[in-house]
Amino acid sequence: MAGRWGNLGLVPLTHKPDRNLAMELVRVTESAALAASKWVGRGDKHAADGAAVDAMRNLLETVNMDGIVVIGEGEKDEAPMLFNGEHVGNGNQPVTDVAVDPIDGTTLTSLGRGNALSVIAVAERGSMLNPGPFVYMNKIAVGPEARGAIDITKSVRDNLNSIARAKRKTLNELTIIVLDRPRHDDLVGEIRAAGCRIKMIADGDIFGAIAAAWPQTGVDALMGIGGTPEGVTSAAAIKALGGEIQGLLWARGEEDRILAKASGIDMNRVLTTDDLVRCDDAFFAATGVTDGDLLRGVRYDAYGASSQSLVMRVRSGTIRTIDTRHRADRIGQYSSDEFR
Ligand code: FBP
Repeated sequence: MAGRWGNLGLVPLTHKPDRNLAMELVRVTESAALAASKWVGRGDKHAADGAAVDAMRNLLETVNMDGIVVIGEGEKDEAPMLFNGEHVGNGNQPVTDVAVDPIDGTTLTSLGRGNALSVIAVAERGSMLNPGPFVYMNKIAVGPEARGAIDITKSVRDNLNSIARAKRKTLNELTIIVLDRPRHDDLVGEIRAAGCRIKMIADGDIFGAIAAAWPQTGVDALMGIGGTPEGVTSAAAIKALGGEIQGLLWARGEEDRILAKASGIDMNRVLTTDDLVRCDDAFFAATGVTDGDLLRGVRYDAYGASSQSLVMRVRSGTIRTIDTRHRADRIGQYSSDEFR
């Protein structure tokens, strides 16, 4: 009888092992993280972001794909960006959508705080949600054990009860990651009233979403309103990890509501993991810029630099952690000048 792993090779494969694009994409996030790392703690988030964007753009040219940026972070705060509609990759197959976040956590980087990541997600063309002008999304993200247990249309308390049941924990054993923002005062109150623990983060809800789905981070869910681009990018990782994310576009004010109505967008429609990334040919890579709970940040020594990255592929569910040594006298010859 076939077990979890099939008949050890006797069962015909539905998909032959093939190319894992994420193995190339990790060079892109490594390069961005190295460039950004020179700005850690220097109080200039735009310089950090600009360095990461340039490094990412340079390396992207070498990746074998015909990509279009559908999630180019930066519009929200007029930061430097890889803009939406920009063609990236060397123009070869496959034809893809690309979501980039050269630094998720620009302020974290500029202040030398933890958990800043350089991130990219790539999926088959037409399969990533294009959020247009809707920059914020209410989100719940969980890992595999709580997949199927969340419903963002229900109350916070209902979701917490359901996550606790799914994870066989009591409410006061749950830890929920929440972005530290005044808009979350009610959410924080409800989580506390339920008796759950909270890990408040200053920025970086891609890290938050992954932490919720990653084993042994001690985090059970991410809840609250963060960037829509970050929601789509996180979905690629959550999908590879076998977790679940749900989102509802969030209006900043009357203007967003009027815009949604005029463009026929239903702000009440629940966006599922599969709505955010609608295919299994999806890839995710992230490299630590600063030290964090998931990844070590970029460090320097006599040899050069070291970085740590996550590399994920949805179809195979393969998750890799990659430790890389970058030799200072070599990498400067073909990478960003920032890394000298
Ligand atoms: P940046 O690195 O682009 O500044 O984004 C950080 C971040 O915290 C995201 O992780 C999150 O989704 C978003 O900003 C939240 O937006 P805001 O800071 O406006 O509340």
